[in-house]
Amino acid sequence: MVSTVSYGKLNPLRLNRHKIHNGAKQMMTKILVFLFLVATTFTFSLTSAWAGERAPDAAHGKTLHSKSCMGCHDNSQYTRSNRIIHTFEDLSARVKFCDAAANADFSPNDLNDVVEHLNVDFYKFGK
Ligand code: HEC
Repeated sequence: MVSTVSYGKLNPLRLNRHKIHNGAKQMMTKILVFLFLVATTFTFSLTSAWAGERAPDAAHGKTLHSKSCMGCHDNSQYTRSNRIIHTFEDLSARVKFCDAAANADFSPNDLNDVVEHLNVDFYKFGK
């Protein structure tokens, strides 16, 4: 024989369920906030990478230059009296051009690093 007890508004089972429900809601909110933070951090780091906002690394550029850029000319090319590069923009364009000539296949960051190396050590253009 099953006896039914009516607790009305004070049904302890319902109170308990209510608590659990609230706990789950709070947990869900925390998870959502966490996911939101992860997503925004990730998006920001990606956009700054796309925008090329990473600071150029002249030392890395020097290593790349020694490895891939000495096939046709040496550093004296950059200090010769009749040199063809007169602005920072000329330099960026020339490094891209010579990257293709050298088949060096530098990434955009690599190109920035090599330009930085040549500018810091030879051309010294203001940006
Ligand atoms: C396939 C041969 C070749 C390779 C490899 C090469 N260059 Fe050049 N580069 C040249 C030539 C030829 C010139 C001179 C062009 C002229 O005088 O009109 C030159 C000139 C330059 C200049 C301009 C020098 C000036 O007059 O101020 C820069 C800067 C330069 N190269 C950078 C690089 C970089 C960086 C690399 C490596 C990615 C590289 N080069 C690899 C052929 C090459």
